[in-house]
Amino acid sequence: MNLTRKDFLKAAATALAAIPMDAIANSSAPAPKTNHIPPGDPRRWWFEARFGLFIHWGLYAIHGWHEQDQWRRKIPRAEYGKLQQQWNPVKFDPDAWIDLAQAAGMKYLCFTTKHHDGFCLWDTKFTVFNTMNTPYGKDVLKLLAEACQRRKFPLCLYYSIADWHQPNYPNEGRHHELPPQPGDSPDWNKYLDFLKAQVRELCSNYGEIHGFWWDMNVPEHVDPSINAMIRELQPKAMINNRGFDPGDFGTPERDWDSATTSKGRFDAPVEACQSVGYQSWGYRTDEDYYSDAHLIRGIHNMLAKGANYLLNVGPMADGSIPETSAAMLRRIGTWVDSIRESFDGAAPVDLGLGDKSIALTRRGNSLYVHLLRDPETTSVFLRPLTTRPKRATLLNDGRVLECDITLLPRWHDQQPSAALRVRPIPVNDATPYGRVLRLDFEAFPDASKTTTTDETR
Ligand code: GLC
Repeated sequence: MNLTRKDFLKAAATALAAIPMDAIANSSAPAPKTNHIPPGDPRRWWFEARFGLFIHWGLYAIHGWHEQDQWRRKIPRAEYGKLQQQWNPVKFDPDAWIDLAQAAGMKYLCFTTKHHDGFCLWDTKFTVFNTMNTPYGKDVLKLLAEACQRRKFPLCLYYSIADWHQPNYPNEGRHHELPPQPGDSPDWNKYLDFLKAQVRELCSNYGEIHGFWWDMNVPEHVDPSINAMIRELQPKAMINNRGFDPGDFGTPERDWDSATTSKGRFDAPVEACQSVGYQSWGYRTDEDYYSDAHLIRGIHNMLAKGANYLLNVGPMADGSIPETSAAMLRRIGTWVDSIRESFDGAAPVDLGLGDKSIALTRRGNSLYVHLLRDPETTSVFLRPLTTRPKRATLLNDGRVLECDITLLPRWHDQQPSAALRVRPIPVNDATPYGRVLRLDFEAFPDASKTTTTDETR
């Protein structure tokens, strides 16, 4: 088929339209290029935890439309601000949140202390726009932090740099910003003083904090002293790349990242994030939910390549997590539990397979074969491996699989023409996604005896 220039431009525009605007806005943030966090560093907890719960919660849950309600529906600031007098999440139970996270196989939590609307979910001295001045009147973050510490469940804090409420924030009508507001006194330096004072508060008054998750540095301001302050106060804190310097890890969002997703494995720390809802991160009354299959494929892809993953839910205004989201998390937890050993303590390994639909991880003499796309055939071919494992199982349900090394007509004229074949893969089951094969070897196949080039990644 010949593609005309017009067809090409149309196809490119369609592809671009499918990429979420927020993902594009965030993709310019620089991220570390290498793994700079040595063994023994207090931040190493993050590399063991791997899978976490993201929680977007704030005043926007009351309307139940989108966490950027104020901006996307152009709600006047004064009107939006009235929601503060309705904030009364009587069903907020941090233990129930942690129970759900654990049922989902998650090992940490990241919580929106302040989203773009500027409403603060902690007892801050620096603005009255906070949870203390509401009918609820309680410090949400304190309750959550106490529960996390009691249950030894690492807690990370999300903080939006863009702020639609604080009068010094220069709302100039750029992306994720309001247009200039009457009565504001835009002053970036004053806003930074406010921000630093709040960050100090967050890192001083809530016990051990395991991470700081910046969002929307719209002015693209650089100031490494802010992360330095966090590190001094909270040495375990892993810091993302959306703040004022590249931080510790990259943050591909909604499974879209131009630089990294095509690679077989990540060379630097990455934490992908995604929401259970297609439309929103905050609670949405008539959300369009993703399928389990879509979410599991995304999570699997990232975990198998060595990235961490944050999956988000938006609790309702009363503090409870919508049952649809909770049920999705529990189902995902069943899958995570079944294949957990393939990424817990296992590391990505490159054996020169040259097949982008497969990722490999290794633990000891076990090789985990991650089928990132639903298998096309009843066999998996692991060319160029020619070592037969002593045992092969489908990790998802423990069934034993057969292996042989046999001459295959498709590759009759290539080297090696005989290769390791594993089967039968139950391709016609209702859930052909998220599959992992575990191959136990007497002696682990030697990658140096195989060809590894950049093209095969
Ligand atoms: C985007 C959205 C924001 C959300 C964030 C989570 O930046 O704009 O609302 O908090 O994604 O990564």
